[in-house]
Amino acid sequence: MKIIEINNSTLKKLSLLLDEYKYKNFYSCKEITNKKKVKYFLSKLSKIKNNGRIIALDINGKIKAFGWVELSDWDTRHFGFKMAKIGIVSQSGYSDDKKYSSILLNEIESYCIHQQIKHITIRLPLNQISLIHSAEENQYLLMAQTSAYIKNLTNYTPEAYDSNIKLRFSKPSDLKDLRKITEKSFRPQSGWFDRFHNDPMLSNDKADLLYKKWINSCYKSSLQNANNKIIIATHENKVVGYLSGEADIEATKSFSKNIVYITLNAVDEAYRRRGIYSLLVQGILNCYKKKDVDLVHILTQSGTVGVQKVWMKQNDVSSETQCVYRKYLGKVCNVRITDCEPLD
Ligand SMILES: CC(C)(COP(=O)(O)OP(=O)(O)OC[C@H]1O[C@@H](n2cnc3c(N)ncnc32)[C@H](O)[C@@H]1OP(=O)(O)O)[C@@H](O)C(=O)NCCC(=O)NCCS
Repeated sequence: MKIIEINNSTLKKLSLLLDEYKYKNFYSCKEITNKKKVKYFLSKLSKIKNNGRIIALDINGKIKAFGWVELSDWDTRHFGFKMAKIGIVSQSGYSDDKKYSSILLNEIESYCIHQQIKHITIRLPLNQISLIHSAEENQYLLMAQTSAYIKNLTNYTPEAYDSNIKLRFSKPSDLKDLRKITEKSFRPQSGWFDRFHNDPMLSNDKADLLYKKWINSCYKSSLQNANNKIIIATHENKVVGYLSGEADIEATKSFSKNIVYITLNAVDEAYRRRGIYSLLVQGILNCYKKKDVDLVHILTQSGTVGVQKVWMKQNDVSSETQCVYRKYLGKVCNVRITDCEPLD
């Protein structure tokens, strides 16, 4: 048994294992062939560059499992210390998967420590229990559970709606209201939780700020690509909710289908449970159907009941659930990271 390095010229060696791996992103989506799912996976891996690494476990000349580390540039800049995403692929049965992934996790962690990466996040499909157990045995802590929904628009017929809530695309003067709704919606005081807010090592204020930056970037993106849209819901001219969608350029390229994903979406607290989110989803699906989009996908925290209900009700929807774990590799203290300076 030996660990080998994988680079762009040897990436194809992983194809055989990936070909049989059931849990790739979009694994539940029947409209995409397995070959294309492998292509998408490899294309994502090929983009791993600075401070990144891909390793594989070679047993008698056969690759049995592999793993990767990728520095999260955006998170690193935002939270002020090195953060990375890691991943593991193994499909040899419960005991072997646990054994192989444990070896890979140890190797990845040593590499991260060497690179002064302090915080690593791993997403594991809920139905790959061997890898989840391996992560738990290696002291990874559960931070969140997310659900993805993938809606096929092929047989979708745009629906008319009748409501005192009006829908329209965003305009520059909406940005202030979008920020206000975002600020109030994505914070623990309003019952919101995610892998950042749940993480005892991350500052809550910075986790709040992350969403403010995110809605600004959604707005900027909406000006840059015809398939990037923010739909606004208004009640008597007051902005009461929004939903933002963006072209998924990488998936579109790999799958040769027109693919869009939903980024941020929220409804003003005072206007919830009146069907506004349902209308926003209908509005965005109508819009993308007209633009010949094939698939729309969304990733949400598994606790957002309103979001789950609306997407699950759709026809031609597939879904998948992931657990998000993290491990902190720095000096651990029992207060949030901003409160326990200095950390090196
Ligand atoms: C999630 C959210 C967008 C839902 O907006 P909304 O306008 O209240 O949703 P709707 O009124 O269209 O409700 C859709 C369905 O979910 C149900 N629902 C909504 N919120 C619910 C809740 N908290 N508990 C149980 N059911 C709920 C509604 O009853 C409705 O069910 P029905 O279709 O069977 O009648 C809103 O609660 C919100 O902004 N939350 C905070 C931010 C967030 O979670 N954003 C989503 C990130 S992916």
